[in-house]
Amino acid sequence: MGVPEIAVHPMTPADLDQVMEVERLSYLTPWSREAFESELLQRYTVYLVARAGDRVVGFAGMHVLWEMAHVTNVAVHPEFRGRGVGERLMRELIRIAYRRGAARMTLEVRVGNAPAQALYRKLGFVTEPGAVRKGYYTDTGEDAIIMWKEPLVEEAI
Ligand SMILES: CC(C)(COP(=O)(O)OP(=O)(O)OC[C@H]1O[C@@H](n2cnc3c(N)ncnc32)[C@H](O)[C@@H]1OP(=O)(O)O)[C@@H](O)C(=O)NCCC(=O)NCCS
Repeated sequence: MGVPEIAVHPMTPADLDQVMEVERLSYLTPWSREAFESELLQRYTVYLVARAGDRVVGFAGMHVLWEMAHVTNVAVHPEFRGRGVGERLMRELIRIAYRRGAARMTLEVRVGNAPAQALYRKLGFVTEPGAVRKGYYTDTGEDAIIMWKEPLVEEAI
């Protein structure tokens, strides 16, 4: 069996049942449905879903404010991980951020989240010693590493 074809689209409220399922399967402290609903209403937000047929298998979102893009959430259904879905979503976010005029993209990631850090490094995100938010994740008290990519250029898309 081949990997089903993945299509990336803007997230709509109709996606939220499936988005919430991926969210719950991905995080110890999932966002609420209301949090997604409120994000979708803002003009400075971009949320995408990856679909295999009718099924939402992943999503990603960011805020774009002036020259800065801030990734807020990226998750892939556990059954669909390791197949390039997260990378595809992140590349699309980078492309949209660049087109909206962002020069820099940043995000926080748990110090213990090696798969996500590897994904971001692959896409050119870097960090520096000390670029840490202590106790950022209030559920476990875990620190966040701050990563960024700058500049966002056409060739990186
Ligand atoms: C992080 C996450 C989104 C990655 O999505 P994914 O679709 O499985 O990732 P991809 O298949 O696109 O992988 C792209 C790259 O990421 C890295 N990567 C992904 N999973 C990895 C793993 N388990 N171990 C090491 N590196 C990994 C690799 O560099 C990979 O490139 P390669 O295939 O050329 O080696 C997914 O693991 C997830 O949903 N995790 C739970 C939610 C989460 O932690 N989100 C990030 C919060 S900051």
